[in-house]
Amino acid sequence: MTQMNPYYSELQGSYLFSEIAKRRTKFVQENPNAEIISLGIGDVTRGLPEAIVKAMHAAVDELAQPETFRGYGPEQGYDFLIQAIIENDYKARGIDIQSNEVFLSDGSKCDVGNIQEIFSQDSIVAVQDPVYPVYVDTNVMAGRSGKFNSETNRYENIEYLDCTAENNFKPSLPKRKVDIIYLCYPNNPTGMTLSKAELKKWVDYAKENNCIILYDSAYEAFITESDVPRSIYEIEGAKEVAIEFRSFSKTAGFTGVRCAYTVVPRELKGFDKDGKELLVNDLWNRRHTTKFNGVSYVTQRGAAAVYSPEGKEQIKALVDFYMTNARIIRDGLASIGIEVFGGVNAPYIWLKTPNGMDSWAFFDKLLSEANIVGTPGVGFGQSGQGYFRLTAFGTRENTEKAVERIRNMSL
Ligand code: MLT
Repeated sequence: MTQMNPYYSELQGSYLFSEIAKRRTKFVQENPNAEIISLGIGDVTRGLPEAIVKAMHAAVDELAQPETFRGYGPEQGYDFLIQAIIENDYKARGIDIQSNEVFLSDGSKCDVGNIQEIFSQDSIVAVQDPVYPVYVDTNVMAGRSGKFNSETNRYENIEYLDCTAENNFKPSLPKRKVDIIYLCYPNNPTGMTLSKAELKKWVDYAKENNCIILYDSAYEAFITESDVPRSIYEIEGAKEVAIEFRSFSKTAGFTGVRCAYTVVPRELKGFDKDGKELLVNDLWNRRHTTKFNGVSYVTQRGAAAVYSPEGKEQIKALVDFYMTNARIIRDGLASIGIEVFGGVNAPYIWLKTPNGMDSWAFFDKLLSEANIVGTPGVGFGQSGQGYFRLTAFGTRENTEKAVERIRNMSL
């Protein structure tokens, strides 16, 4: 027998969304007639926008002919998509990003999970709590977390930045020296955002303390308020301290198609074991070209169509659709006295469980009494205890039905 990676033994239970799926399956087996509404994992429900479908069909036809066939593409992505990203997502907002700073991939989950590989094993990691579990679990797998303390429900070597109603879900700066800070805005799971001034505080901190911010901006397209920053690079000097992650998953209905991108600025520096300066971009490029063979051509053509005039219009309609769901959930729950957060600049509604109920107890109650699957807040970390997340990605019919069912529950 072969010895396995010992750090995997430090992982707690199963991956959050697998655990939820398991409980749902068990419930359905025991209650085959229950009509389940899933507002748990943030998976989209609308079809792909027409402009994207057309572009993908055309790309398939190209691949069918030897004259226009394409095999391996550049690992970092095709230039037509990288240029569209640079022009629309950055240049249009006054941000200067170069083509060798953008890396296309098959998803932000993969990128935020893989990025830790290029940092030293000794790096101290800070995460918000509640937190998207991938940030923590991938650092556990890599051996950076230390032991799990079952009393605090936390890893000993990870710095947790509490985000609770008391601080309006805005984390304080770390109390000890850290090397890597994961920030997610608009936030998953709380749906909350930072203002430019608040984000600047983090950029300044990273500069002063020589740390790198891993900025997960997968939900940027759902920002509705004009003064909320969409990219960390809107903050002066951020290119020296931050990597940014963006995704087509929720914006363009790509949860199954798979496409995302990561920006690693050439200004961003680290150092090697002898103290010699290194470009983070070079390391990520090395990692990406070694372990990834590029997003499929068809997918990249589809993603590029997001930036066409029709694509933009259709994406806007898609985002509006989901944000209307968010408003329906927010208003519906607030009207029966449930305290709700988020859902204004993000497709997630973060609610305080009625009567201070434990998150998993509320999960079970909602599933058994209303046949609704949501996500227990504590699954995102200890500070999520007593909270619960619902997504706005359901169909309109199910969203309205779910709110009605919750209104009819005895809470
Ligand atoms: C979520 O529900 O938090 C997301 O769907 C997870 C993901 O994007 O991987």
